[in-house]
Amino acid sequence: MKSLSLYLLSFITIILTFLCFIDLAFAKGGALTSEIPGRRLLDDDSSKPRIDVTKGYMSNEDLENAIMAFGERCSNISRIYSIGRSVNGFPLWVIEISDKPGSEEPEPAFKFIGNVHGDEPVGRELLIRFANWLCDNHVKDPLATLIVKNVHLHILPSMNPDGYALRKRGNAKNIDLNRDFPDQFFAINDLEDARQPETKAIMRWLRRIQFTASASLHGGALVANYPWDGTQDKRKEYYATPDDETFQLLASLYSHSHYNMSMSKEFPGGITNGAAWYPIYGGMQDWNYIHAGCFELTLEISDNKWPNASELSTIWEYNKMSMLNLVAATVKTGVHGRIFSSDTGRPLPASINIKGFNQTVKAGRLFADYHRLLVPGVKYQVTASSPGYKSKSTTIFLEEGATTADFILEPETSNVGKILETGCLCSGSNKNRLEVVDILAHPQMEICLVVVVAFAFLLLLYRRKLCFSLPRHRQLAGSKRPIVV
Ligand SMILES: *[C@@H]1O[C@H](CO)[C@@H](O)[C@H](O)[C@H]1NC(C)=O
Ligand SMILES: *[C@@H]1O[C@H](CO)[C@@H](O)[C@H](O)[C@H]1NC(C)=O
Ligand SMILES: [Zn+2]
Repeated sequence: MKSLSLYLLSFITIILTFLCFIDLAFAKGGALTSEIPGRRLLDDDSSKPRIDVTKGYMSNEDLENAIMAFGERCSNISRIYSIGRSVNGFPLWVIEISDKPGSEEPEPAFKFIGNVHGDEPVGRELLIRFANWLCDNHVKDPLATLIVKNVHLHILPSMNPDGYALRKRGNAKNIDLNRDFPDQFFAINDLEDARQPETKAIMRWLRRIQFTASASLHGGALVANYPWDGTQDKRKEYYATPDDETFQLLASLYSHSHYNMSMSKEFPGGITNGAAWYPIYGGMQDWNYIHAGCFELTLEISDNKWPNASELSTIWEYNKMSMLNLVAATVKTGVHGRIFSSDTGRPLPASINIKGFNQTVKAGRLFADYHRLLVPGVKYQVTASSPGYKSKSTTIFLEEGATTADFILEPETSNVGKILETGCLCSGSNKNRLEVVDILAHPQMEICLVVVVAFAFLLLLYRRKLCFSLPRHRQLAGSKRPIVV
C-alpha cells in the first residue's frame, strides 16, 4: 500500500514536473555575405599529392570496412552509427566507445574528428588504430579502462570522405569545411541552408550529444592549436578565450604527451593560439566552444600531409599517449556533478556557471550531469541554476584531479503552496493558500482537504526516503571528495 502511494506520488510529481518544464527553443538566423577569408598557409602546391601518394592508405571503402569490422569485433564496448552523408552520399560513420554504448550515462562525452580536410588523411588512419588499441587494451591498460568506463568517446574518422576521394582539401563542392561553421564576428555562414551537408551533420550531432571536449586531426604542421581562431579585426594576434588557461592546459597536455611536438622550434611548447598563428573564420573549434561549450583543439599531427604509409604506425605511436591523455582529461580535471530538485529528488534541466567566465555549461538532459573543465590550483565559485528554482552557489578549490559538486535546488514557490493548489483543483476552482482557511467552513470541501493532507504526508515520507538516496549516485573516477550543495 505504501509503495503504491509512493508510485502514485511520483506519478503526480512527474506530471507536475512536465507541466512546469519549459523547453528552450533553438533559434538562429542572419545574413549571408560573400566574403570568406581563407587560411592559405596550408594550401600551397607542395602539399598537393603526387601520383601514388595514397598507396598504403585506406580508401573510403576500406575505411568503412574497417569501421564495420571494428563494430563486430568490439561490439561489447562500441556502437557504429552515422551522423549523415557527404555531398556524394557517403555515410559519415561514427564509432562510439563506452562500456554502455548508445545509452546515456552521467559521464562526459569526447569526440575525435579526422580528415576534415580531404588531403589530410593521417588522422583517419590514426583514429582507426586508436579505436582498435582501446578495444585490445581496455581490460589491461588503466587509461583505456578509465576511458571506456567513464567517458563516452565518439570517433568520426572522416568528416570529408569526398575530399579524400578527390584528394583535395575541400569537399565535393570545393568548400573548406573548416570555414563553413557560423562565425562569431562575421555573418559569413549564418544561412543554415547554404552550409555543406558535412557541416550540418556536425552541428546536428552537437545538438544531440553534449560534448565536454573534442579534437580534430589535421596535417601540414606539428602543433596543438586552440581557440580563438578568429579575431574581431582580422588581425593576426593572440586572441584569448575566457578559458585561455584551460585551453593551454589541454593543448600542452597533448604536446607534452607527444613524442616531440613540444620540442617545436616554430611553436613554443608545441602549442599555439589559432589567431596568433593565422586567423580563420567559420572554423569548427570556435563554433564548438561558443555554441556547445565544448573545448575543441585543432591538432596538426604531421608536417607532411601524406607521409609514406609505412610511417603511419610510428606516427600513431607518437600520438597514442596524447590521444589517451586528452580524452582522460575530461574525467581527471575540472568540476563535475549533478543537479537535483529538492522536492522531487529528480535531475533538473539545469546549467552551471563559473564566476568570471562567460560560458554556461548545460547539464545533461537525462541525468542533469555537468562536466566543466578548469585549471587546477584555483578557487572557483560554481553556480547552478534551473528555471523555477532558486540558484545555488558554492566555492570550490580545485586541486590536481577533478572535484565533484552536486546541487540540490529548491523551487521558487514552497511545496505547501503547490500541494494546496493542486489539491483544490478537484473543487473546480483556483483557490490560493489564504482561501484555504475559508474552505474549512464548507463541509463539501472536507474530502478535498483530506486528500491534500494525505498528499502532503506522503510527500514528506517520499522526501525522507530521497534524503537518504540522493548522495548515493556514482562518483566519477579520479574525483576528490564529493561536495553536495
Ligand atoms: C619529430 O620527429 C620526426 C620524426 O623523427 C621529425 O621528422 C620531426 O622533424 C620532429 N619534429 C620536431 C619538432 O622535433
Ligand atoms: C558573453 O556571451 C554572450 C553570448 O555568448 C555575448 O553576447 C556577450 O557579449 C559575452 N560577454 C562578455 C563579457 O564576453
Ligand atoms: Zn587541415
